[in-house]
Amino acid sequence: MTDKPLSSLALGILGVGYFASYFVAGLRKGGFEGKILLSPRNTETANKLAQTHNCAIADSNQEVIDQSDIALLSVRPEHLQALLSGLIFRADQIVISAIAGISLESHHKAGKLPENLIRMIPVCCIEAGEGVVPIYPANEIVENLARYAGAPVVFNSEDEFDLSLAASCMNGWLYEFFGSMSQWLENKGLPPQTARDLVLHNVRGATGYALLKETEDLTSITNAIATEGTYTLKGLDVLKAQQGITAWDKALDEVHTNLVKNN
Ligand SMILES: NC(=O)c1ccc[n+]([C@@H]2O[C@H](COP(=O)([O-])OP(=O)(O)OC[C@H]3O[C@@H](n4cnc5c(N)ncnc54)[C@H](OP(=O)(O)O)[C@@H]3O)[C@@H](O)[C@H]2O)c1
Repeated sequence: MTDKPLSSLALGILGVGYFASYFVAGLRKGGFEGKILLSPRNTETANKLAQTHNCAIADSNQEVIDQSDIALLSVRPEHLQALLSGLIFRADQIVISAIAGISLESHHKAGKLPENLIRMIPVCCIEAGEGVVPIYPANEIVENLARYAGAPVVFNSEDEFDLSLAASCMNGWLYEFFGSMSQWLENKGLPPQTARDLVLHNVRGATGYALLKETEDLTSITNAIATEGTYTLKGLDVLKAQQGITAWDKALDEVHTNLVKNN
């Protein structure tokens, strides 16, 4: 199987919901032309993906496995055991799991899975062709597949991988933060589209600038801007006084503690 070119590999997906939808969209947008075979449950989403992203729908979960080189598990954690019950994977099959909060060891306890089990959990921005694809452990084929959807980042340990998941949750909080700033601008009188564009392009500009200054410490960029007497410093002081920065560390702590506990 490993000799096949990536474009001729068949990817089977078990669990066709929100994750599968953005992962498939990201792969196709990135030019992946291999076969994608979907599990039949959740017909509405499967049909939509079949029509918009050239996927096939299998008659059963076992058919997904039998007809794929790589199988992707993307059910919710509480459904993993029931999903695996009765399914038979080939010993040489690569299985990718997108299921957050379940260690490799716990995956193996939940059912009979092949040795080649790789955790890979990108967030929804891969649909826009941006973002990282956290992977553990290293696997060249999975990394090459991930490259269609984003930038693969391979971690040295499962502990490191869990830290990347906390960062992934941070990605999810950002939209609420953007929405709140956009709403503030609207409330002050800007048209909604202008408010939205201002926030999103400011944020995009900030990440673009920070990526450009690759050797610079991130907080030092703020320090260089928020100098004595500036409006930026006035606002930053308010944020700090309200724990507006440290609150994010607390949220990361909460997520990480729970991720590790559930593993
Ligand atoms: N959503 C995210 O942004 C995100 C990000 C990173 C990782 N993940 C991970 O991705 C996984 C899926 O999350 P999601 O948000 O995509 O959940 P979701 O939208 O609920 O999708 C899960 C799908 O799996 C289906 N399913 C459940 N049991 C099944 C079975 N035995 N056979 C076939 N299909 C089955 C569900 O069908 P029913 O609806 O009929 O139950 C549902 O369509 C989770 O483990 C999560 O940790 C999600």
